[in-house]
Amino acid sequence: MPAQIIDGKLIAAELRAKVADEVARVKREHGLLPGLAVVLIGNDPASEVYVRNKAKQTEAAGMASFEHKLPAEISQAEVLALVDRLNRDPSVHGILVQLPLPKGLDANTIVNAIDPAKDVDGLHPVNAGRLASGLPALTPCTPLGSIILAKSVHDSLEGMNAIVIGRSNLVGRPLVQLLLNENATVTIAHSRTRDLPALCRRADLVFAAVGRPEMVRGGWLQPGATVIDVGINRIPGADGRNRLVGDVAYDEAMLVAGAVTPVPGGVGQMTVACLLVNTLRAACAIKGLPAPSV
Ligand code: GUN
Repeated sequence: MPAQIIDGKLIAAELRAKVADEVARVKREHGLLPGLAVVLIGNDPASEVYVRNKAKQTEAAGMASFEHKLPAEISQAEVLALVDRLNRDPSVHGILVQLPLPKGLDANTIVNAIDPAKDVDGLHPVNAGRLASGLPALTPCTPLGSIILAKSVHDSLEGMNAIVIGRSNLVGRPLVQLLLNENATVTIAHSRTRDLPALCRRADLVFAAVGRPEMVRGGWLQPGATVIDVGINRIPGADGRNRLVGDVAYDEAMLVAGAVTPVPGGVGQMTVACLLVNTLRAACAIKGLPAPSV
């Protein structure tokens, strides 16, 4: 029997609807309009698509969206001045600087300048440290979405063997921390890991976040495993046009796994939905309101 396809599109739509309900409630009860500022520097086509999508969905959830498009030649000082302005703007509760940045700009310095209370990407060292310490924190959106998808298959991840392939600040590392919070047993694999296929075969949960098209093969999977594919890779298709594939060989995985996320239509859908969740949570925390129900 082929694996269950985990419907990221549907689960993300349900989450966005819950966010929209909570946004309407905080507006009605507290006069709070959550606002998200997205900063896009340069004209990377993939980033432009992401940012447009973020703005559209922010507005659809009833929140305020502020877009700042800056030329690739902008100086570091000018970017820092904008971040400072957004930090002090009371209508802005979330700040996201789209990555990667053009050459000449230092992502660490810029991310570190964001007020941790508005860091809806969860990338500021204060939030990363709080997450690693088991304290409440704004958490990176893609790992958050990946956990929600895994929990759509398993009520509890407690005691499960999970493998996270990839150790980036944006995905792998925070995902490890979230899995620990769920009481999973976690293996962290990366480019220097020895015998990855054997390690992978021991996992009940496989999170692939390396950015290598179709790297994880069907033969690497334990029969019945749940596979969360975080990769979004563009490769040339048979018709000469680019097509999107994940980090997992999908057709092979479908024959072995118990449940698999598709690409597109899996984790990617969840990232923006979780960004809306984080913006709502940040707005409530800044205003001193109880945490929302999403
Ligand atoms: N580029 C790709 N994904 C992300 C993300 O989640 N946040 C930011 N800031 N940049 C990205």
